[in-house]
Formats: sequence, C-alpha cells, structure tokens
Amino acid sequence: MVTGAAEPMRWTRKDLIGLEDLSRAEIEMILDTAPQFLAVSQRESGIKKVPLLQGRLVVNWFFEPSTRTRTSFELAAKRLSADTLTMNVQASSAKKGETLHDTLDNIEAMHSDIVVIRHNHAGVSRMLAERHHSQIINAGDGAHEHPTQGLLDAFTIREHVRKMRQDPAASLDGVRVAIIGDIAHSRVARSNVWGLTKLGAHVTLCGPRTLLPPGIDRMGARVTCDLREAIHDADVVYVLRIQLERQAKCLFPSMREYIRLFRVDAESLKAAPGHAIIMHPGPMNRDLEISSDVANGPRNVILEQVTNGVAVRMAVMHLLVNGHRRE
Ligand code: NCD
Repeated sequence: MVTGAAEPMRWTRKDLIGLEDLSRAEIEMILDTAPQFLAVSQRESGIKKVPLLQGRLVVNWFFEPSTRTRTSFELAAKRLSADTLTMNVQASSAKKGETLHDTLDNIEAMHSDIVVIRHNHAGVSRMLAERHHSQIINAGDGAHEHPTQGLLDAFTIREHVRKMRQDPAASLDGVRVAIIGDIAHSRVARSNVWGLTKLGAHVTLCGPRTLLPPGIDRMGARVTCDLREAIHDADVVYVLRIQLERQAKCLFPSMREYIRLFRVDAESLKAAPGHAIIMHPGPMNRDLEISSDVANGPRNVILEQVTNGVAVRMAVMHLLVNGHRRE
C-alpha cells in the first residue's frame, strides 16, 4: 500500500470563541504560527508590518475596560496591515437601546471582516458568531473564556520550557502549572485550564474555598486551598487578579487573611521549585495577590506575556482570515 505524505493541517474555523472548542492540533497550529509574527515585531529594520490582512477591516468592540487586550488586538491588526476601527461603546447606539445584533448588522453593512468583542456576559461572542458572517474573536466574555489570553500564556510557557530543556521542540506534556487566586471570576483560569490540559500540562487551581466554583475539578485540574501544596512541584506559578469589581460582596474574610494565606511573595515562593516562572495576566493589584518584589523579580515573565500576546493574536487573525477563507 502506498501512503502519501500526511496532508498538512488546514485552519477551518470561522471564529475563535473558546479553547474548550479547539483540539490540541488546532491549539498547536496557532502556537506554531506565532514565532514568525514575533520575528516581525522584533525586526531590526524597525518596520513591524506584513501585508497579510491588507484591505481587511478589524473592529474592536469592548464593553469592559481593557488596556492590554484592546491595544494588543489593535496592534496585531495594524502589524498585519488591516484597517482598524475601535467602537466607542460609551457613545454608541447601545446606549439608545439598539440590540447587539442590530449594531453588528450595521458594522457589517460597512464590510467588517473580524470583530473582536469583550462583553461582561458569558456567551455573547458565540451568540454573535452563530448569526453573523463577520469572524468573531472572543476577547473575554464574563467569567467564561478569554481564549487569546490562554493561547499567549501557553505560548509563553512553551517558550520557557523549550529554553530550560534546551529542546526547541519540547511540548507541554507533563509541565506543572499552578493557578492561584480568584478562580471563580476568572475567564483567564478557564481558558488556561482548557488550553493547558489539552496540551498535556498538569494544572492545579488554588484559592480560598469561596473563590473555587463547585465542579471546577471536572475540567481536569487538581484543586486545593493550600498555596504551598499547589506550588511545591510547579514549573509555573500563575497569579490571578482578585476581581474586586465582579464580587457582589467580598468573598474572603479580610484582605489581611488573603494576603497571609494566598499572596505570592518571596516568603510563600520558598515552597516552589527554584526554576518556577511567575506569570500574571494583568492588571495586577500590587501587594495584594502578588508582592511587588516578585512581580518585578528575575523569575517573572509578565511583560513577555504581553509581547507574545501581539504575536499570538496576529497568528489567530491570520489563520482565521487566510486559513478559513481558503476552504
Ligand atoms: C484579564 C481579563 O480582563 O480577563 N485581563 C486581561 O485580559 N489581561 C484578567 C483580569 O482582568 O484580571
């Protein structure tokens, strides 16, 4: 029997809604596409642009405050030579009662290609993706998912594992990641659990019992309320922001107690292996969930996450537009 070379995998999805939907192969395809875009941003010539989305329109539609994610998507689109439009939600017709579908119909009447949406309600991006022809990227929906954050985190971890093991092809199989803090309100935690476990990593979730939603262990992560137990064998200590704005009431007895039991600082980090890297999605509450010395210390890769975020979002937009359309 003659077997030909395996067909290279092609990107087929119209939208990116969550990492729960993606296969390991699809996630790896995005991660493997990102390095070429990292190189574009680091070009010695200073010309940080490629024409892959030339003539396309990318619309940023953010209903929640965001610095990193919004600017990262905007830069990613610009570095792919797309036209970009940022919707001013405060001054938009949503304030006059227009539905999201009607607003998107209007944006589409102006020929949008990609719509990047952040909304405080879980499920909004999927709802829009199912009804509209624009390619939707979920930039965070309530406490549900934030897939590009999960992807840029997986990419950052993989880069470090590859460097540490001096193996440019190393995978995340067996890598141990401890995610600490406000799991209940965190779409970042959810996307990371889906993404990292699909890539073969072992994920431990740790926080006060009131911030660990029931059933979270069914996502395939180990769960503990003991910080030292969570990080004792970790290759990565991933600190989440305490989302004070999403808590109807304070869900732990006092800040002092949270700091004593869960803050990642020089003292608690003594329980982690010396090689463990420190991550945070930003924005940080300095000296609440993470101490300033650790946030600025030699093991933190927090700004690398930001740098990688642009490249990973370029990879996502390129695959969505140029992969999907070729189908
Ligand atoms: C996160 C978010 O908004 O989901 N931030 C981010 O996108 N970098 C996490 C957070 O707000 O704590």
